[in-house]
Amino acid sequence: MATAAKTRLSVERIKPEIGARVLNSKADLLSGAFTGELRELLEQHGVIVFPKIDFTDDEQVAFTKTLGTFAPEISDTGDGDKVHKITIDEAVNPSSAIYLKGSLYWHIDGTMNQVPILASLLSCKVPSPKGTGNTGFANTYAAYEALPAEKKAEYAGYRVRHGAWATLFYWSPEPDQELLERMQGIGDVEIPLVWNHRSGRKSLVIGNTAHTITGKSHFDSARILNEMRVWATQEQFTYSHEWSVGDLVVWDNTGTMHRAEAYDPTCGRMMHRTKLEGEEPFE
Ligand code: OGA
Ligand code: MN
Repeated sequence: MATAAKTRLSVERIKPEIGARVLNSKADLLSGAFTGELRELLEQHGVIVFPKIDFTDDEQVAFTKTLGTFAPEISDTGDGDKVHKITIDEAVNPSSAIYLKGSLYWHIDGTMNQVPILASLLSCKVPSPKGTGNTGFANTYAAYEALPAEKKAEYAGYRVRHGAWATLFYWSPEPDQELLERMQGIGDVEIPLVWNHRSGRKSLVIGNTAHTITGKSHFDSARILNEMRVWATQEQFTYSHEWSVGDLVVWDNTGTMHRAEAYDPTCGRMMHRTKLEGEEPFE
């Protein structure tokens, strides 16, 4: 008896410790047939690239919904689920460009939420000039795993304070007081440095929102947090994606950090983002 060949997920690995490329068609992806496999791939490889998949905004929203629960962005509530425009050009996006300037430094999205988002999906509408504006990713599961035993023991009990305001000083060392207080108004939270996931895996929770290790001085906090960023962003744990129009990249926000690499804010770079609601609190 003839049986129709079942379409398979077509996967290429990018680097041993991070990244996979999926080469299936739009129709395959939108069918929802690969939800389980894609979620597994995301957890194992941290980042999935769908080269030149060329989703429309509606298709990106639909695809996001095949993977989990669509997470609306704060500024987009009210009129249905849609993509969020990502640009640091204040002339194009006056309300959120200022918050996105921190995205040029290693970070995890939503560290100030008890349950951070599970994943972000970014598609490229207009790339920046070649050699600028890549997005870098670092696998914080792999970085934790590779730590020497004595570092794992040292880090096990640390709790770290995170606030969006801390990112302000990365790009504005002498900020406006009103802006600092507005960003401090978003909040400041304490979460563990090592995230013990329900799966049994562990990842590091660091990035530009992390500012103080509870019980340590500013001096010691800075040394340790910087040491960890340097460790986690070593070549073997990282992947830098050079964008082409139509690329979609999905990252596991619970097991990676990311950053936009420098680009001219006025160059026209435009990304459309959707997010998946988190499923597990930091603990
Ligand atoms: C984000 C982000 C990086 C980029 O959308 O959360 O950090 O390369 N973007 O635009
Ligand atoms: Mn981000």
